[in-house]
Amino acid sequence: AKPEPLRIMISGAPASGKGTQCELITKKYGLVHIAAGDLLRAEVAAGSENGKRAKEFMEKGQLVPNEIVVMMVKERLLRPDSQASGWLLDGYPRSSSQATALEDFGIRPDLFILLDVPEDILVERVVGRRLDPVTGKIYHLKYAPPETDEIAARLTQRFDDTEEKLRLQTHHQNVEAVLAIYEDLTIKIKGDGPKDELFAQIDSALSGLLEQKKATSTSV
Ligand code: AP5
Repeated sequence: AKPEPLRIMISGAPASGKGTQCELITKKYGLVHIAAGDLLRAEVAAGSENGKRAKEFMEKGQLVPNEIVVMMVKERLLRPDSQASGWLLDGYPRSSSQATALEDFGIRPDLFILLDVPEDILVERVVGRRLDPVTGKIYHLKYAPPETDEIAARLTQRFDDTEEKLRLQTHHQNVEAVLAIYEDLTIKIKGDGPKDELFAQIDSALSGLLEQKKATSTSV
């Protein structure tokens, strides 16, 4: 039988490097990257009713209400591409009620990755973060500078990259409750090193998991 695809969650404070690691993970493992923040920003950009409401909360660094987020994420997780290739869920669940909603739908990950980054580094990362609106790629003025002057000239800053303290508070209020639900599946990665070193640790956990899945699928 074909081994089951990987189902991975990644969590961490704002600017801890989730998006950066997700880019490396999807490149190697072909998982469907589902980022709650990206789905919400797409709604905001589309100007939908949900988008307008979501923006009010995002600007304050608060969690967007569950009635907007939960179905949006669930629907994306259950699409055929995510089911066939496996998924990498980024920035969800962010509260115990969001985790419980997934459990109620029978959705549980193989692994829960927690990026643990000290607060002073988070601030430095968020201040230097830039986004290429054309390719969607994340840069950092110091740690991941743009490759060309043309890209440098078009880089933008995210509208919520200002009230950093508030977003950290929101994160700290919720993280323990989510961790408790996935305790037995969690690996904690010290996230203050270079991105390739962090990825090497994640890569070894994921390849180990894939091996296990292959072994169980051939033994049945
Ligand atoms: P979301 O988009 O998820 O934002 P976030 O959690 O604040 O995370 P970020 O995207 O800011 O950071 P990241 O960890 O991806 O870091 P990155 O790789 O860019 O959510 C935004 C908002 O949407 C929330 O505030 C909330 O309102 C709402 N929302 C989202 N999910 C929700 C949910 N489930 N429920 C309700 N509301 C929800 O890295 C940061 C910078 O550091 C970059 O410049 C990068 O180049 C650099 N960098 C990365 N890694 C390294 C490294 N190892 N060394 C040096 N620099 C590095």
